[in-house]
Amino acid sequence: MTNKINDLLRRVEAFKPQAAAELEEFRIKILGKKGELTALMEEFKTVAPELKRELGQQLNRLKTTATERINALREELGNAAADRAARVEDMTRPGSAEPLGSRHPISLVRREIVEVFARLGYTVAEGPEIEDDWHVFSALNFPPEHPARDMQDTFFIEKDPDILLRTHTSSIQVRTMERQKPPIRVICPGRVFRNEAISSRAHCIFHQIEGLYIDEGVSFADLKQSLLYFAKEVFGGQTAIRMRPSYFPFTEPSAEVDVSCNLCGGKGCNVCKGTGWLEIMGCGMVDPNVLTANGIDPQKYSGFAFGMGIERIAMLKYGVKDLRLYFENDVRFLRQFDSAL
Ligand code: DAH
Repeated sequence: MTNKINDLLRRVEAFKPQAAAELEEFRIKILGKKGELTALMEEFKTVAPELKRELGQQLNRLKTTATERINALREELGNAAADRAARVEDMTRPGSAEPLGSRHPISLVRREIVEVFARLGYTVAEGPEIEDDWHVFSALNFPPEHPARDMQDTFFIEKDPDILLRTHTSSIQVRTMERQKPPIRVICPGRVFRNEAISSRAHCIFHQIEGLYIDEGVSFADLKQSLLYFAKEVFGGQTAIRMRPSYFPFTEPSAEVDVSCNLCGGKGCNVCKGTGWLEIMGCGMVDPNVLTANGIDPQKYSGFAFGMGIERIAMLKYGVKDLRLYFENDVRFLRQFDSAL
C-alpha cells in the first residue's frame, strides 16, 4: 500500500494542467467519491492494526498535499485567465496597425482622368481587349496598307478574318457609335497591346484613355477648351497647352497636344529636353469617313476625339523614369503611392 500512496503522491506533485477543465478532471479522478484516494481509504480499513498508524499518517499527508496542490493550481489558472481578460479589456493599450495596401499609380491616374471628364459630362465606356479588324482599323479609316496593320505592330490571334489584341482604345469609339446615337460623350479607359520590345520607354502592354464627343456643331475650339481644362486639372492651374498639326487616319484635322513642363515651368529642363513642353496626347476632329462608316450623318453631326497613354501621364505626374516599374509590382515602388488614395 505504501507503494500506491507514493506513486499517487508523485503524480499529484508532477501534475501541470493547461486549463481549468483539465484540473477539475484530475481532482475528480483523485479526490472524487470514486477517486483513487477514496479507494485507498477503503483499502486502509482492511489493513492489519499494527500497520494502521504508519499508513494512516502517510494517507493523511497524501490527502493534504493533493488538496493543497489542487487549490494552488486552481488559483494559478484563474489568475492567468483573469489576466488575459484584463488585457483584452484594457482600452488604453495602443492598437496594432493593420498594414493597408495602396492603389496602383495607373489606377490612381486613370481614376483622376475619368473624374475630370465626368465633370464635363462624359460617361465611361468600355470594350473588349480581343477585337476584330473592323473595330480597330477599318471603321477608323485605316487604309488597307497602313503599317499598324502589320504583324510587327499588332498581335494577331487569327488571320482571315483577322482577330487581334486591340492596339488602341479608339476601338471603343466604334463600339460606342454602334450602340448609341448622338449626342455622344464618352471617356474610354482600357488596356492595349503592341508588338514592341520592352524597354524603359516602351512596353507591349499599356493603358490608354480615349475620349469621344459627337453632337451638332462641335468645333475645334470646343476640343481645345476641353483639353485645356483637363491639363489644368491634372497638371495644375498654371499649365498651358499647345497643339501641333499631326496625322491620324480617324481624325481630320489631327493634332498632337503638349503641356507646358510642370517641372521647369516652361524654361527647359532635362525632362522636357530643353523645350519647355511635354507631349501628352493625340486628338482631332472625327473624320467624316469614320462618322459615315458608323452610321452617323457627317452633314448633321461633327465631333472630336482624343487619346492618351495613362503610363505617360503618370510618369509626368509622379516623375517615374522607367515604364517597367508599373508592371513589376515591386512593393517598394507601389508603397510610395499609399498616401495618394
Ligand atoms: N489611337 C491613337 C494612338 O493609339 C491615339 C489617338 C490619337 C486617339 C488621336 C484619338 C485621336 O482619338 O483623335 O496613338
